[in-house]
Amino acid sequence: MTSTLPYTSTLYRCPLCREPLFPEASTPEQNLFSQSVSKQTSYRCINRHHFDVAKEGYLNLLPVQHKNSKQPGDSKAMLQQRRQFLESGAYQPLVSALAEQLQHLAPARMLDSGCGEGYYSAQLKAALPATEFAGMDISKSAIQLAAKRYPDIAFCVASAKTLPYGDQQFDGMLVLCAPFELAEVKRCLRPGGFLMLVTAAPEHLLQFKQTIYKEVRLHSDAVQALAGFQHVRRQHCRFMLEQLGADAYLSLLDMTPLGWKLPQQQKQQLCQSLTQLQADFYIDSYQYGS
Ligand SMILES: C[S@@+](CC[C@H](N)C(=O)[O-])C[C@H]1O[C@@H](n2cnc3c(N)ncnc32)[C@H](O)[C@@H]1O
Ligand SMILES: [Zn+2]
Repeated sequence: MTSTLPYTSTLYRCPLCREPLFPEASTPEQNLFSQSVSKQTSYRCINRHHFDVAKEGYLNLLPVQHKNSKQPGDSKAMLQQRRQFLESGAYQPLVSALAEQLQHLAPARMLDSGCGEGYYSAQLKAALPATEFAGMDISKSAIQLAAKRYPDIAFCVASAKTLPYGDQQFDGMLVLCAPFELAEVKRCLRPGGFLMLVTAAPEHLLQFKQTIYKEVRLHSDAVQALAGFQHVRRQHCRFMLEQLGADAYLSLLDMTPLGWKLPQQQKQQLCQSLTQLQADFYIDSYQYGS
């Protein structure tokens, strides 16, 4: 899939005045994705709003007035648990399913919205080397970890409520268990582009829930209707996490809000006694404007 966008369009827009952001001391024609981002030192709009590239190679495009807390998004501790767990390869079936679908779609430009510490962005970039990947998350700790580890992806701190990208910048967007704002997804996707939504299916982490709650409420199996999009495919990605060991189960528990529900000792007991745990996801693909 080739992008229909003019080459001169910029990736980022200013979060303060919405004008395009250009890297300083370079021309607008420069490709603003991937490697080039970490090599710039700052970005500026025509109204002289100025954003420095952090030493890890990311941009912080989340103005203080868009923050609803001092450190919004997932905490450093949760992210470290997530990185440790994901890098064990336990969710490889999900990565493979996503990579296979994306290889068919072959997007030229792709956004991982709510990308966390960047594991999926990086795995998918490796599976689709010709695709330019950008990733954003509201958590600064997440983006610091992501940018430091994966310099060939353009990461920024921002809110999904106001995406810091120009109009029609992406052929595809991935939203993996993260919040999104439909109007912003539409604005940043080109017509005909796709949204890939990964959500927890009914039995996701069932064995954890059976221990934590008296009455387990399963995740919904309803397909979300998204105005302006056609739902084109649902893939049910279900696999058992067997004999991972107590540490890995504990990392998984602590990277989700379920980790807050039990005291440490009970969490350890639960994870030591566990031999299998259900992973259960839906991958829903939507096409924009059809
Ligand atoms: C369950 S995690 C998923 C992270 C990543 N997609 C993954 O699967 O590893 C949800 C992510 O959404 C981020 N997040 C929460 N609210 C957000 C918002 N308004 N805008 C952007 N990211 C947000 C959190 O910081 C967190 O990294
Ligand atoms: Zn500006």
